[in-house]
Amino acid sequence: MILGYQIKIPVEFKPPRYDNLSTWITNKFSCDDVNPELVSWLNDRGVSFKDGLFFNVPPGMKHNLHIDMKYGSHYTDCVKINFIYNSNNAVMKWYKLNEGKGPTLHKNSRGDTIIGFKPEDCHEVFELSGDYESIIFNGQEIHTMINGDTMRQCYSLFLLKSNTDVRVTWDEAQYIFKDCIIK
Ligand SMILES: [Fe+2]
Repeated sequence: MILGYQIKIPVEFKPPRYDNLSTWITNKFSCDDVNPELVSWLNDRGVSFKDGLFFNVPPGMKHNLHIDMKYGSHYTDCVKINFIYNSNNAVMKWYKLNEGKGPTLHKNSRGDTIIGFKPEDCHEVFELSGDYESIIFNGQEIHTMINGDTMRQCYSLFLLKSNTDVRVTWDEAQYIFKDCIIK
């Protein structure tokens, strides 16, 4: 089961820049905050994004096991492109829920209710380096990111089908980006 890939896309990603890179922050940004060349390259493939999240993650930090979906959201799929900077020895891991177990709801730092999972209720199924400069991955499956020994910056774009409010599925993303996959 492959739930994420290292990719290389032919246009540069020019992200919004944030000042305080010494503390744990998450910031929301939109497609208006990144370079239009990237937005139009995605559009040529039938893909867009409205929202992105910026994460500035301290060394050694581990996210709780979760899926990238707000509780009560109408979205069903969540495929993302992550652009990553200053990462060293970070790892992303995916899990499946053990039989008879379910999610636990909790609030994240931004006050959203997140669908989380206890590690003891899950088993690991897939792993990907967190150090790649760009990846696509399936955020609909249970996952975590364990940071390495640097302050790591990650810009995460939620992929939609162009000009709609419909999320790209993982099957669709693997097809759309197949010529960009490195491994
Ligand atoms: Fe996530």
